[in-house]
Amino acid sequence: MSPAIRHLIEIDDLSPDEVLRVLDLSASPDRPGLLAGRTVGLVFEKPSMRTRNAMEVAVAQLGGYPVTMQGQEVGLGSREPATDVATVLSRYHALIGARVNDDITVRAMATVSRVPVINLLSDRSHPCQALADLLTLRNLWGSFRGRSLTWVGDGNNVCRSLALGAAAVGIDVRLASPGGYGLDPADLASIRRFGTSVETFDDPTAAVRGTDAVCTDVWSSMGHEAEAGVRRGAFSGWTIDARLMSLAAPDAAFLHCLPAHRGEEVSSAVIDGPQSAVWDQAENRLHTARGLLMFLLDKDRRVITKATWDGLPRRRPT
Ligand code: CP
Repeated sequence: MSPAIRHLIEIDDLSPDEVLRVLDLSASPDRPGLLAGRTVGLVFEKPSMRTRNAMEVAVAQLGGYPVTMQGQEVGLGSREPATDVATVLSRYHALIGARVNDDITVRAMATVSRVPVINLLSDRSHPCQALADLLTLRNLWGSFRGRSLTWVGDGNNVCRSLALGAAAVGIDVRLASPGGYGLDPADLASIRRFGTSVETFDDPTAAVRGTDAVCTDVWSSMGHEAEAGVRRGAFSGWTIDARLMSLAAPDAAFLHCLPAHRGEEVSSAVIDGPQSAVWDQAENRLHTARGLLMFLLDKDRRVITKATWDGLPRRRPT
């Protein structure tokens, strides 16, 4: 990747201070015409409702025009290599977004692109969702200091990015999954490098005790549909219901990236109840998409490469 161009493939491509900067930009009422007369290319290999709408509206709010393509029509990786697609798109557009089956695809696109590439979800990561989740929590809490977040369910792409982002901004992270469905040791080591508390659990009741936010996703994400039956068995007893929420802090928030399967990973009483923050969370996909575009397209921003910030001394941001 060119060191002069910033991409967002995983949330930790941003330093902790940069995550906070993106959240500040997302919350700002200013909508500069950064994209006036310019376009953004968005490629989707998988279905999307929130991500596509959030990105398209954010581009329009910044004065630009989104060009959305389905992976099939582009022939991403079949009609032509993803790197050829990205090379050409980066000559048309100010920025490229890609939702891909395989994380390697979006990484390869970033390698050749002349413009920033945003990962709009891969099998490994969902950094845009993590930004929206963090903005939602900061709006609820005011500050991240002394707060904890508990993931209950599949250790999937959404879990990985949220845990990384939460640890980066100083939130204590608890991760609860049935055996064999948690994050792997390398991911845990990556999350732990920020210095916050990171605990793993195989029992959701122990994990949520006193926590400030309970987060989950479907038991079978896109790409795991064939395993749905097996997963339903493995996740039996892991539904986030009123009883489980009652063990968390009294004002604990419930987060879900959506789409949700009521009666599986969450009960209707919780997702449609007073502790649910899911609609604000979904709205924040738009605000953080705009904040992220503003950050990546800001020509005056001091360029800090990932290699540089990896070497910076760590502190717990507030
Ligand atoms: N949460 C999320 O990414 O939603 P979509 O799949 O609808 O974009």
